[in-house]
Amino acid sequence: MTMISLQHVTKDYGNGRGIFDISFNVEKGTVYGFLGPNGAGKTTAIRHIMGFSKLQQGIITVNHLDSWKNASTIQENLGYLPGEVALPEHLTGEQFIRMMMDLRKVKDDTHCKKLIDFFELNASGKVKRMSLGMKRKLAIVTAFMHDPDVLVLDEPTSGLDPIMQQRFIDFVREEKKRGKTILLSSHIFTEVDATCDEISIIKDGHLMSSFNKQELLKMTEKVFHVTAKNAKDYTQLVERIESIAECHLINKNEREFELQIGCYPSNLLQLIKLLAAIPILSFTEVPFSLEKHFMKFYDRRVGGELP
Ligand SMILES: Nc1ncnc2c1ncn2[C@@H]1O[C@H](COP(=O)(O)OP(=O)(O)O)[C@@H](O)[C@H]1O
Ligand SMILES: [Mg+2]
Repeated sequence: MTMISLQHVTKDYGNGRGIFDISFNVEKGTVYGFLGPNGAGKTTAIRHIMGFSKLQQGIITVNHLDSWKNASTIQENLGYLPGEVALPEHLTGEQFIRMMMDLRKVKDDTHCKKLIDFFELNASGKVKRMSLGMKRKLAIVTAFMHDPDVLVLDEPTSGLDPIMQQRFIDFVREEKKRGKTILLSSHIFTEVDATCDEISIIKDGHLMSSFNKQELLKMTEKVFHVTAKNAKDYTQLVERIESIAECHLINKNEREFELQIGCYPSNLLQLIKLLAAIPILSFTEVPFSLEKHFMKFYDRRVGGELP
């Protein structure tokens, strides 16, 4: 079941800024990663999902409700963590939590206490004296305090130290196990890689690529690194490898090279026979990295070619 849907969403701020023809769906019980550098349009998209601002074109629904027309109902039920946390500075953390509990009509504070312990939030002091990290923890606790089914988190770990970042990743995984639907934006590959099922890459307001992580990992193409024993062997290897079907050399450097091969029994056998015939020093698989995949889209765009 689709919980959040964006269809051909456009908000043009002029001078190429904004978001343009963005479409994606977030399915129930999944974690969706919205990955892109600063200024890509992540916050703009999220603010429209929350119904804070009206679209110029397209449609957004949250739980099948129009995000603009039903903004107050959506905001009541959703868990939302803004990118820039603006909290009432004059209150103590505890007062703010109490205020949000009243607003959210949360009667039982058991869940809230669990969150405070888990994130080691010290809420006794005034908000204005809190560090950025502590403010972010306070915002996290208030986003999750009513145990919402759908969460929209804008760069949730920014301002958290590495230990808390990891704790947040563990928390998102646990929430997913509990059936929650989560959309999170980020510019950190590792965090998206560790938590998300589906990923969209956004740049300059355009969706560059959307993919399912498992499908991407199962891709039949693999990359191997080979080191030849000497220059003669290297030349022979390079010549012969290029004759194998669906096998390409991608990086050549003195006696080392990387090859990309479609992993089918017939050409794998050819490759293995070849490597057995010509002595080599090393043969290792180069693991797939989301970061490399991400950069590939960037490079292509720079070259003017859309993927
Ligand atoms: N209200 C606004 N008016 C004009 N330009 C805006 C507004 N909000 C965002 N922008 C511009 O739109 C682009 C995308 O911004 P944003 O969505 O905040 O990116 P991200 O969250 O990915 O860093 C940026 O160039 C930003 O300056
Ligand atoms: Mg942002």
